[in-house]
Amino acid sequence: MIKGIFPTEKFEAFETPFYYYDITLLRETLDTIRQETAGKPFHIHYAIKANANPEILRLIASYGFGADCVSGNEILRALACGFPASKIAFAGVGKTDREIRIGLENDIFCFNVESMAELEVLNGLAAAQGKKAPVALRINPNVDAHTHHYITTGLNENKFGINEDDLPAILRMIAEGQQINLIGIHFHIGSQITDLSSFEDLCVKVLELREWFHRQGITLPVINVGGGLGINYQHPNHCPIADFESYFRLFDKYLKLEEDQTLHFELGRSMVAPCGSLITRVVYVKEGMQKKFLIVDAGMTELIRPALYQAFHHIENISSEEPYTPYDVVGPICESSDVFARDFPLNESKRGDLIAIRSAGAYGETMASTYNCRAIPASLFSDKL
Ligand code: LLP
Repeated sequence: MIKGIFPTEKFEAFETPFYYYDITLLRETLDTIRQETAGKPFHIHYAIKANANPEILRLIASYGFGADCVSGNEILRALACGFPASKIAFAGVGKTDREIRIGLENDIFCFNVESMAELEVLNGLAAAQGKKAPVALRINPNVDAHTHHYITTGLNENKFGINEDDLPAILRMIAEGQQINLIGIHFHIGSQITDLSSFEDLCVKVLELREWFHRQGITLPVINVGGGLGINYQHPNHCPIADFESYFRLFDKYLKLEEDQTLHFELGRSMVAPCGSLITRVVYVKEGMQKKFLIVDAGMTELIRPALYQAFHHIENISSEEPYTPYDVVGPICESSDVFARDFPLNESKRGDLIAIRSAGAYGETMASTYNCRAIPASLFSDKL
């Protein structure tokens, strides 16, 4: 089993648990995305929800990427970390008046609108500011992303997006209101998608809808296909960078863009998941009747993905070279679901060893909670140790 490379000795000086970010890997990932989109009218809006750590955000912004925000506070964070307002897309089913005002005041790139009711409110708030709001309609494409049902978003039964049947009424409303500038259409079918054929299905749907808009006499400068590209959680050391080449090639092949049309992506996980690890310490090794438990000082409060989505994260003991033996790796939280892995082979472990829970750079730190009065974990960066 190959192990990741961690500066274990340097870690000893820090209190666990903490997030550790491999900045070299993050840069390599961002360079890859840049190469794979070079010369194409492709725009990346990094999905802030995946990881909103200011250090990470500043680095991503420095590459010239835009941001995809789902709250007013995310917009403010993105702006503070160097993302230009002109590259900020604002999505979300429940944008409040305050949040919409933040977007309008800062002249963001686009509001991804999810319902008729939202469009009405946006129209009114834009009027109050004497502005026209740039809008992409988030359309529910009814495409199955073949991923965990908690992170599937593009099916009809989901709360997200506008159903196709409602489009004529929406267009009538846009024509009547004065303050909406329809610039595009937006989609997002789900997250951690590893079967790329789901994106082919999405492309077919996008082309169909683009045609439909044409027939209504509307050309759309912006097509936004959301995010969702998955990563390899099983083999973080073999496959540290997502398959951006195949991903972008697919959209290039299937979506022939029209002149002056740009294609927008809202990637989150694939950009930041691999570079982050949750570093935790073994508090106790507990011999059960049938199995051994490794009780560590991180729990579902620092990384909720295994408890919430039965998500798999590769785990390594970065202090031990002893032979492998299976452990149930569990946290200290008073919940039976506070389990990182069952029967996971780790180098023979003892109290005080450091454990790395891999591929935790996305939806790890951002989903941390203070349940059990715990502290939000600190973060360390490979280039700052
Ligand atoms: N755009 C929209 C409209 C989204 O809802 C999302 C994620 C993204 C972009 C970014 O998707 P990504 O490229 O990261 O797949 N907490 C869950 C994932 C929730 C994803 C929510 N939406 C997890 O830990 O797996």
